[in-house]
Amino acid sequence: EDPRVRGIAAAIRVVPDFPKPGIMFQDITTLLLDPDAFKNTVDMFVERYTDMDISVVAGIEARGFIFGPPIALSIGAKFVPLRKPKKLPGEVISENYDLEYGSDCLQMHVGAVQPGERVLIVDDLVATGGTLRAAISLLERVGAEVVECACVIELPELKGRERLDGKPLYILVESH
Ligand code: PRP
Ligand code: MG
Repeated sequence: EDPRVRGIAAAIRVVPDFPKPGIMFQDITTLLLDPDAFKNTVDMFVERYTDMDISVVAGIEARGFIFGPPIALSIGAKFVPLRKPKKLPGEVISENYDLEYGSDCLQMHVGAVQPGERVLIVDDLVATGGTLRAAISLLERVGAEVVECACVIELPELKGRERLDGKPLYILVESH
């Protein structure tokens, strides 16, 4: 294992019973307070995705907006925000997805990604995989090629990886 992973994992604070009893919340704001760990996180993604011919990094609101842009800048790709509903002013394409309670939606500007473009999807964490699945669907509906999904942390017990229709998922830290 890369020696940087231990420091990244240690910088993520686990908050019990947030936002509800029984949930062990993985708080990446403490990772952002540790410049070495934050830089190592971005560097590890950049090392993996440099020279993979990726022209778009798509980041998922809100926490995918923290990690996506520095990766996009370093690999020379566009950054495309996948937003919660009613935030984007232009013509949008929408994808609804289920949450543990209720549902949510991601939207992307039509024309931001061209058919055939090679896309990396970035978020902080994969839990049930519903959010990443919706992002993959949005991009594939406009004809993009989703090369991989990249997250800092995975909660493997929730088996989110199995909901990604075989798309590769790259994570730095497994949280148990
Ligand atoms: C969290 C997290 C991921 C998603 C993972 O986002 O940042 O995007 O949940 O869950 P899933 O794998 O079960 O779909 P959330 O929607 O809570 O909001 P935020 O990023 O805007 O804080
Ligand atoms: Mg999120």
